[in-house]
Amino acid sequence: MLKLNFKNSDISVIGEENGLNIENEFNNYSSQVADIIKSLNQRKDKPGEWLQWMNLGYNEETVWYVKEFASLVDGRFDNILVLGIGGSALGGLAVTEALLKPYWNLLTKEQRKGLPKIFFLDNIDPDSINGILEALDLKKTLVNVITKSGDTAETMSQFMIIRDLLQKELGDDYRKNIVATTDKKMGILRQLADQEGYKIFYVPDDVGGRFSVFSSVGLVPFALVGLDIDQIMNGIKDMDLELKNTDIHQNIAAQGALINFLMDRNKGKNISVLMPYSSRLKYIPSWFSQLWAESLGKGNLGLTPLNAVGATDQHSLLQLFNEGPNNKLITFIRIKNFDTTLEIPKIFEYTGIGYLGGKTVNDLMNAEADSTIVSLIDYKRPSLTITIDKIDEYNIAQLLYMFEVQTAIIGELYNINSFDQPAVEQSKNYIYALMGRAGFDGSVEVLREKLELV
Ligand code: PA5
Repeated sequence: MLKLNFKNSDISVIGEENGLNIENEFNNYSSQVADIIKSLNQRKDKPGEWLQWMNLGYNEETVWYVKEFASLVDGRFDNILVLGIGGSALGGLAVTEALLKPYWNLLTKEQRKGLPKIFFLDNIDPDSINGILEALDLKKTLVNVITKSGDTAETMSQFMIIRDLLQKELGDDYRKNIVATTDKKMGILRQLADQEGYKIFYVPDDVGGRFSVFSSVGLVPFALVGLDIDQIMNGIKDMDLELKNTDIHQNIAAQGALINFLMDRNKGKNISVLMPYSSRLKYIPSWFSQLWAESLGKGNLGLTPLNAVGATDQHSLLQLFNEGPNNKLITFIRIKNFDTTLEIPKIFEYTGIGYLGGKTVNDLMNAEADSTIVSLIDYKRPSLTITIDKIDEYNIAQLLYMFEVQTAIIGELYNINSFDQPAVEQSKNYIYALMGRAGFDGSVEVLREKLELV
């Protein structure tokens, strides 16, 4: 189970100016928070509330179909190429980076136990697209095109390029190399999948992109590279049960939400840093940034997410964290047990680095995290620490699901709708207009005029 330590945000540790009297605040907000938790759980099945992500841990039917598909294609492909952007890519990227063996794509097929490599194409940089096409043998590549709306320009343009090449290389068989993940009823990808006969998985209704990692959006690629999706489901279900607890003293998502909210509102800490002490978790802050930014950035409110990785960013961002503006709340993620214990050999004992010999890199990682936390206390900067026992399917699912619930709770504290993204939609509409999509031409002239101003 995850543990949250909030004492380094308390006045007893960092003083009144920057800290919160956390016990008092938990008591002050206990009934409001309990009402929020109750209300989220009551509303979760109601259409239009966009809370279906709270049910994804129980979606056994999807798990069954995903596993069936993974076993059908088992051994047929050397590569999985995921096409998607935003919520259709970040969760998959964060979870596979965390759970697959490090440097997965550099391992031999034997080391990967015959499982495919996995690549995420989440941008439209022409050089990168071209680069991946040069690197991959498309005949041996299963393309998972993921777009809930079914018509996002970035994803669909990648798809058009790759679908065209697949057909040229494979003739009529090209469709066997495509699996689409999209909305059940709407969107162009949905129509194309029917028309051309690709295998299709659905993103359930009322699951927004940034809350979709445990729907077929994530589960399909996870199963294809051999991750244990049953354990992912178990992690979510157990965390969901814990987070149904309406007592803030027992609910870590509610605690994190309230502390972040009050740090912003009362202490001017409107930048939220997420800093795992693990390279394998390095994309979790990117996933979290989207979750936090698109959910909470509304009505001139919101917390600005900032990504960091320990220990690397001790040599980059830490100076700013300690001596820059005191406007950040830093959440550390620490791993209790790494898979590997790596000893530093006792060499160069006669030099100034001799002290490292005989210790482990694990000791060093822990010392680095401890020293960062203590230095923040010295500078009266607040932090939270989440500890996970080890990096595995169960714990990573718990972590991400906890962050989703935390986001929903803090959104209610701000009294905003965490589940829409009007600014993202506006930008999509501008793109459609500029690229000449029918039905969007009305705003083209206005756009061009504005562009001339810049
Ligand atoms: O969270 C969101 O809804 C967005 O960031 C989307 O995930 C992103 O815009 C991609 O949309 P789609 O999955 O429709 O291609």
